[in-house]
Amino acid sequence: MHNPGRVAVFLSGRGSNFHALYRASQKPDSGYTIALVISDRKAAVGFLKALRLGIPAVHMTPRSFPDRDQFETELIGRLHEHRIDLICLAGYMRLVGPTLLAAYAGRIMNIHPALLPAFPGLHAQRQAIEYGGKVSGCTVHFVDGGMDTGPIILQRAVVIPEGDCEETLSSRILRWEHRLYPDAVRLYFQGRLQISGRRVIIKPQ
Ligand code: GRF
Repeated sequence: MHNPGRVAVFLSGRGSNFHALYRASQKPDSGYTIALVISDRKAAVGFLKALRLGIPAVHMTPRSFPDRDQFETELIGRLHEHRIDLICLAGYMRLVGPTLLAAYAGRIMNIHPALLPAFPGLHAQRQAIEYGGKVSGCTVHFVDGGMDTGPIILQRAVVIPEGDCEETLSSRILRWEHRLYPDAVRLYFQGRLQISGRRVIIKPQ
């Protein structure tokens, strides 16, 4: 059997997607392990959860560095130290800069609570409600230099019933996020994701 893939989760908040990834990683044959958590907020619930679980967790913020390039160079040092194969952004409230993108080209994923390219950016669920959408959902995608613009790996649609509000829609979408993200990571470590331009081809097993 292969060594399990080594994942770093980047987060800024609650960390429910981190926890879902962690739980899935504990199942036999998941193919990956959460080897590192990076948080840009010391008080982030997800960061504290990682510490409690005994997962190596590091608090790092660009504010302690003269510029983003130096912050990312230090980050890359940490990632190499922990032999990280794949980065999963999970509620990480920062854009990835060119230094980290170059070091981990095609090896950074993100989850977004809408069906991209609709409703990128913050408060995607509120955007969907306010727009009057009948369907939204969640998207796992590879990260590029833009805001939620990278090649789409998996999507799941969620119906917006009459009377839905931001909170109810968010929690319904979140339940699917917790399934979709581990599925995408598993596919990655099975070697089944191939990026071809904008398209991610999922190769059969
Ligand atoms: C999720 O809705 C995710 O899609 C978005 O940020 C939120 C993070 O939630 N990118 P959590 O911290 O994983 O609970």
